Amino acid sequence: MRQSDLTDTSRFGPHPAPGSPSYRTAGDIAAAGVLTDDESTPLARSIEHQLLVKEGRRLRGPLPRPARTRVMVVANQKGGVGKTTTTVNMAAALAQHGQRVLVVDLDPQGNASTALSIDHHRGTPSTYDALVDGVPLVDVVQPSPEIDGLFVVPATIDLAGAEIDLVSLVARESRLRKAIHAFPLVFGDGEDRLDYVLIDCPPSLGLLTLNALVAGDEMLIPIQAEYYALEGLGQLLETVDMVKAHLNPDLTVSTILLTMYDARTRLAAGVAEEVRSHFGEQVLSTAIPRSVRISEAPSYGQTVMTYDPGSPGALSYLEAAREMALKGASA
Ligand SMILES: Nc1ncnc2c1ncn2[C@@H]1O[C@H](COP(=O)(O)OP(=O)(O)OP(=O)(O)O)[C@@H](O)[C@H]1O
Ligand SMILES: [Mg+2]
Repeated sequence: MRQSDLTDTSRFGPHPAPGSPSYRTAGDIAAAGVLTDDESTPLARSIEHQLLVKEGRRLRGPLPRPARTRVMVVANQKGGVGKTTTTVNMAAALAQHGQRVLVVDLDPQGNASTALSIDHHRGTPSTYDALVDGVPLVDVVQPSPEIDGLFVVPATIDLAGAEIDLVSLVARESRLRKAIHAFPLVFGDGEDRLDYVLIDCPPSLGLLTLNALVAGDEMLIPIQAEYYALEGLGQLLETVDMVKAHLNPDLTVSTILLTMYDARTRLAAGVAEEVRSHFGEQVLSTAIPRSVRISEAPSYGQTVMTYDPGSPGALSYLEAAREMALKGASA
């Protein structure tokens, strides 16, 4: 793949190439025929909801545990593309599939901590303490109050200073890796071993994101299905190549997820086609629809998986998590 191609957005739309792949949304999953949860009549919505809840029960079956803890970095330096939404909902969906999951909030905004209803006021033991002061993760982790098998290392506003505080420290780019690898529940073989560690990165390519890239085995890149979707991705992939060459040869871009996908527009289909032509099999065939339920869940301290479990957004994340888990199992 030529990375310069990634900055050429002129081919994204408004007209997709003929024969563009259509992406699955929850509407397809449940064969309910309604594309988003933001339209249609109350009666249609109610019928769809019943179908979706029924389908959700089927989708929530247990999944095989991966052979080894999968440490996944959710990154894209473009802001507002759905990194945090994807981290918390994938984590919740995996936990609902019977996996044991740790979310590491690596963004000073603390949005993942908020969405998972985890205390992260100033002074709470947090990612900052683990990164800068070397406090063991076991002393900063909190269980999710809502979902069994889900754990969170919260971010407080102190993390905003970490980019600077880290500069003068030894091995400044591998401190998160050290913390994760020292966590007894990672890579062990006991029943309580973690199956997934998902790291929610800030929208920049600074030392915090670098720490995540050095700590992770795999990257999960959310891409918003909109006009400038691939802008800046070339720079992200160059950073990944640099990390692979010098700091973490095992890092792979294993998973791309299309977010805020509006199946009614040709633009979304065009962007999906473009993303698929660059990344191929790495792109999950489930796209996440644009949905009001997804965006309002955090204000209730919830993921959409508990806020509205039968909604198309929740079912899409369940299906995406299932796909990601099955792909990882066969890798
Ligand atoms: N599928 C969706 N449908 C509707 N709104 C969404 C969806 N996914 C995310 N959003 C909303 O878009 C906004 C940005 O999402 P989010 O915070 O997950 O992005 P981000 O990449 O983590 O942002 P940042 O770069 O600031 O960390 C939020 O308001 C979120 O609620
Ligand atoms: Mg975020």
